[in-house]
Amino acid sequence: MILVTGGTGYIGSHTCVALAQSGHDLLILDNLCNSRADVVDRLEMLCGKRPVFVKGDVRDAALLANIFAQYRITAVMHFAGFKAVGESIEMPLAYYDNNVNGTLELLAAMRRANLRTFVFSSSATVYSDPDGVPLREDSPRSASNPYGRSKLIIEDILADLHRAEPDWRIARLRYFNPVGAHESALIGEDPQGNPNNLMPFVAQVAIGQREFLNIWGNDFATPDGTGRRDYLHVVDLAKGHIAALDYLNLQGGMLTVNLGTGRGYSVLEVVKAFERASGCVIPYKVGTRRPGDIAQYWADPSLAYELLGWKYRRGLDQMCRDAWRWQQQCDKRGTSD
Ligand code: NAD
Ligand code: UFG
Repeated sequence: MILVTGGTGYIGSHTCVALAQSGHDLLILDNLCNSRADVVDRLEMLCGKRPVFVKGDVRDAALLANIFAQYRITAVMHFAGFKAVGESIEMPLAYYDNNVNGTLELLAAMRRANLRTFVFSSSATVYSDPDGVPLREDSPRSASNPYGRSKLIIEDILADLHRAEPDWRIARLRYFNPVGAHESALIGEDPQGNPNNLMPFVAQVAIGQREFLNIWGNDFATPDGTGRRDYLHVVDLAKGHIAALDYLNLQGGMLTVNLGTGRGYSVLEVVKAFERASGCVIPYKVGTRRPGDIAQYWADPSLAYELLGWKYRRGLDQMCRDAWRWQQQCDKRGTSD
C-alpha cells in the first residue's frame, strides 16, 4: 500500500488514479487545508476501489506512527505542502513549518517504521533565474522566495539523508507547469479565490466568471513578448510518479529528474489554444510585469526518458480541452450547491 500525503489535492489526486491503475492500494493522508473530502468519492469512482482516507496533518508524529503500525505501507509519495509563491513571502514561517517540518516529521516517522522509499514533489522553481534553456538537472539552483527555498532545503535534506543512509530510495521530481485535469472531469484543480496561475485564470475568463485576463507583460525577450513556460498535462505528470516508483523499486538509489515536455508556450499561445478548445473568446489586457517573473523556461526532459522511459503524451490542445471540461463541471457544481 502506498501512502499519498496531500492525495486529495490537485496533483496527488491524479497520481492516486495512476497508482490505482497500476494495481496499488492507497492510503491518503490530507488535512484538507486546500482540498475537499468529496475528492475521495470521485477517486473511488475512478479507481474502482475506495482509497483509505485519513484526515490529518503530516506534522502529527503520533498519527504517522499509528498509520505505519496499522497498514503495510511500502512507499510514500509526499505531495502535502503549501505552494503559493506570493503567500510564502507574506508567511515564511508557515511555509517553512508546513513544507520543511512536515517533510522532516514524515521522514523521521518512516525511519522509525523502517520504511525507506520516498517520492518528493519538487519544482522547476529550484533552478536559478535560467539563462540557459532548456533546464537540465545539473543546471544551477537557487531560490528567490520562501516557497522555492523550502523546496531547495528539502532537496538538500534528502541528498544528505541518502548520503548518510544509502539504503533509502528517494526520487526528487522537478515538476514544470502542471495544467489540465482528468478527462472524466471528476478531478482537477479547484483554486480558492483568485487563481495565481495562468490556465485556471484563463478558464475562469472563458466561462464568464472573470471579465478579462491580465497578461503580465509583453515586453519580454520572447518571440511575441509574453512569458513562455513548459506546460505539462497533470495526467502525464501523474504517470511520471509511477515510472519513478518503478525505477526506485528496481534500481534503488537517489533519482533527480525534470518532469516537463521540453517545449515552451507563450501566454498568447495558451490563450489561442484555450479559445480553440472552448470556442470562447478570451478578452485580455496587457499589464506590467508581475514581480519576480522571468521571460521563459522549459525542461530538458531527456533524463526522465533515459532513466524512466517516461515522456509526455498530451499536447497543449488536450491540456486546454481537459481544463475546459473541468471548468464547466466546476461551474455546474457551483450553481447547484
Ligand atoms: P494542492 O494544494 O492541490 O495539494 C496539496 C494537498 O496537501 C492539499 O490537498 C492540502 O490540503 C494538503 N496539505 C497541505 N498541507 C498539509 C499538511 N500539513 N498535512 C496534510 N495535508 C496537507 O497542491 P498541488 O498543486 O497538488 O501540489 C502538490 C505538490 O506539488 C506540492 O508540494 C507543490 O509544492 C508541488 N508542486 C506543485 C506545482 C504546481 O504548479 N501545482 C508545481 C511544482 C511543484
Ligand atoms: N500569467 C499572466 N497572467 C496571469 C497569470 C499568469 O500573464 O493571470 C503569465 C505569467 O506571467 C507567466 C505565465 O503566465 O508568464 C505562467 O504563469 P503561472 O503563474 O501559471 O506559472 P509560473 O511559471 O509563473 O509559476 C509556476 C508555479 C510556481 C512555481 C513556478 C516554477 O505557480 O509555484 O511555476 O515551478 F514556483
